[in-house]
Amino acid sequence: MTETPGYIQKIRADFPILQSKVHNKPLVYFDNAATTQKPNLVIERIKNYYEKQNANIHRGVHHLSQVSTQDYEDARIKIQHYIGASKSSEIIFTKGTTDGINLIASSFGALLKEGDEILISAMEHHSNIVPWQLLADAKKIELKIIPIAQDGTLLMEEFERLLTAKTKLVSITHISNTLGTINPIENIISKSHAFGAKVLVDGAQSIQHGEINVSTLDCDFFVFSGHKIFGPTGIGILYGKEQILDEMPPYQGGGDMIKSVSFEKTTFNELPFKFEAGTPNIVGGIALGSAIEYIESIDKQSAFEYEKNLLKFTEKELLKIDGLRIFGTAKEKTSLVSFNVGDIHPFDIGTLLDKQGIAVRTGHHCTQPLMDFYEIPGTLRASFSIYNTVEEVSQFLTALKRAISVLS
Ligand code: ALA
Repeated sequence: MTETPGYIQKIRADFPILQSKVHNKPLVYFDNAATTQKPNLVIERIKNYYEKQNANIHRGVHHLSQVSTQDYEDARIKIQHYIGASKSSEIIFTKGTTDGINLIASSFGALLKEGDEILISAMEHHSNIVPWQLLADAKKIELKIIPIAQDGTLLMEEFERLLTAKTKLVSITHISNTLGTINPIENIISKSHAFGAKVLVDGAQSIQHGEINVSTLDCDFFVFSGHKIFGPTGIGILYGKEQILDEMPPYQGGGDMIKSVSFEKTTFNELPFKFEAGTPNIVGGIALGSAIEYIESIDKQSAFEYEKNLLKFTEKELLKIDGLRIFGTAKEKTSLVSFNVGDIHPFDIGTLLDKQGIAVRTGHHCTQPLMDFYEIPGTLRASFSIYNTVEEVSQFLTALKRAISVLS
């Protein structure tokens, strides 16, 4: 891989922050698994909303309220189409992936009883561990962990062994935020359904790296954060199959989720509003719609393919460095690489990279059980998006070698 294709340079030009300097060096932003940068379309939409449109939604007969309500609901439909859901009522706006998982743990969790079992995997983010631990403690439900192999792939035979008629939910990440492993999600879903278990897919990492179709996947729930797909922070999506969402009790009480309230009896609104208490993140929802519009406007298939090649090129170059170890070497992997160099602490390398304008994430990546599995305190993680270039990878490699020579 010697140069960045023209269509990637064109995409890059849509993201103004990528022109900035950090510590007087051109920014090389390789922390896309933590959050993605925002294109002009999204930035302008937020500005325009507050300049010309701001009003509360679902509440007013006045013009601005009507326009904002329409735009918010249009965004829901854009998202519905983007992820292939059959109804817009199955698209619940949340604060993000963590909020979506907590909603399901609380509401779907209310339908579970003592002795039921939930399966998660050893590569989950804390937000797909802790809500289930809280639920397991409160309701005497058993939480079982699907182990992984050294290369960061799931042990599917162990998964099949753990899956029984007692399993009520399998809550699993589509792509590991630390290792990049792409899990065989279709296979997991069909095997789980054969035992009557529902499946929640944590799509926090997969949403920005490939097309998602929840109908083809046949998952029961799919959650993601808007900020990982070029949208704002504080907004996310929970997709759920209508029938299951209908059976679930409300999550939070308040405005929007009610049909009528009296001191004797309160009735709840229909989907999706039943799960949307309180004034939502209106501009967040609308701007997430713009982020979807943006990604629909580019040749996303080529861009996703390009990201994979960027990863292959980077890993090949990284492995030439003495003492460098990559964590997560699954064959099916997304465009991120976690690594350590000898016994140099990742934080030290990360700090020296930052001084050279390069943003990577260091630490346990909210996956402490994975760090325990590999017996390490943390890793350095470089994670790519559709606007990163081959030249940036070269800058990163040079900076990394410089950092290692200072610290060795
Ligand atoms: N979950 C995000 C990450 O992996 C924050 O960095």
